[in-house]
Amino acid sequence: MITLGIESTAHTFGVGICDDDAILSNVTDTYRGEGIHPRKAADHHADVAGDVTRRALEHAGLCASDIDLVSFSQGPGLGPCLRVGATAARALSLRNNVPIVGVNHCIAHIEVGRFLLGIDDPVTLYVSGGNTQILAYAGGRYRVFGETLDIGIGNMQDTFARAVGIEFPCGKRIDELVSAGTTYLDIPYTIKGMDFSFTGMLSEAIKHARTHPLEDVTYSLMETAFSIVVEATERAMSHTQKRDLLLAGGNAASPRLREMCTIMAHDRDGEVHIPPFAVCRDNGAMIAVEGMVEYAAGRRMALHETTIRQKWRSDEVDVIWRD
Ligand code: FE2
Repeated sequence: MITLGIESTAHTFGVGICDDDAILSNVTDTYRGEGIHPRKAADHHADVAGDVTRRALEHAGLCASDIDLVSFSQGPGLGPCLRVGATAARALSLRNNVPIVGVNHCIAHIEVGRFLLGIDDPVTLYVSGGNTQILAYAGGRYRVFGETLDIGIGNMQDTFARAVGIEFPCGKRIDELVSAGTTYLDIPYTIKGMDFSFTGMLSEAIKHARTHPLEDVTYSLMETAFSIVVEATERAMSHTQKRDLLLAGGNAASPRLREMCTIMAHDRDGEVHIPPFAVCRDNGAMIAVEGMVEYAAGRRMALHETTIRQKWRSDEVDVIWRD
């Protein structure tokens, strides 16, 4: 079965194609404004949708009539952006007379890792701009074992970068500053139970930046944020007795976060799994894989059920494709 998946929850419009065994193509085009303006990002997605779809088909060596199934990110995400992806998916489905399946974006991050890396039952640490969550399968659902109570780590990083004058996109520069920092400055360690929050430490870091070297401030901020999520992830692994940790989301690219996760997992005889960056970040291939897996398990969707779900939580999805 050939599945074409469309991603458009936030700043990235992506189209990926997979068959039963492999990802055949994965093309993305990302809105590059400072921060994210939902309407402008949606306009960007509408502008590039046709070209990204054409390139994804071309890379896979296919034409639109070869597609057996269309899937798309139904939520969670920004309304205007989600609507562009849903509309493109409906158009493709109708034009080619093939079924359509809307999938949960966060769960797609997990399933593409399981599909590509052959991990059976991981705890997933999903770290990105809009989302920071710890997810694991239990009792027919992907349960949220811990999550941010305000903003995602990526959003915190971007806001900090803007406040201290680091150019967007800031990821690479932040990683350099993190490894150059030598002195740890006091940053609030804000974890409550299994949930965490990043806005307090962000404010404190911006204050520190007035009087301390940027390397030390950035290092202290990111070290604290990563320590918090790794602590909660370790507790989730301990509670669920799962030994595999899957890293997902754009911030999974951070060398320091990868290192911390590796140390933690090895300490408890576990293992860290990190998919290639192209499928770690927001992308269409993970949506294609999720659609294919759900369709094969019997998921069917009428056109009127394909409306977007901006606040769709992972633990609301019936996981019909496992057990
Ligand atoms: Fe994501």
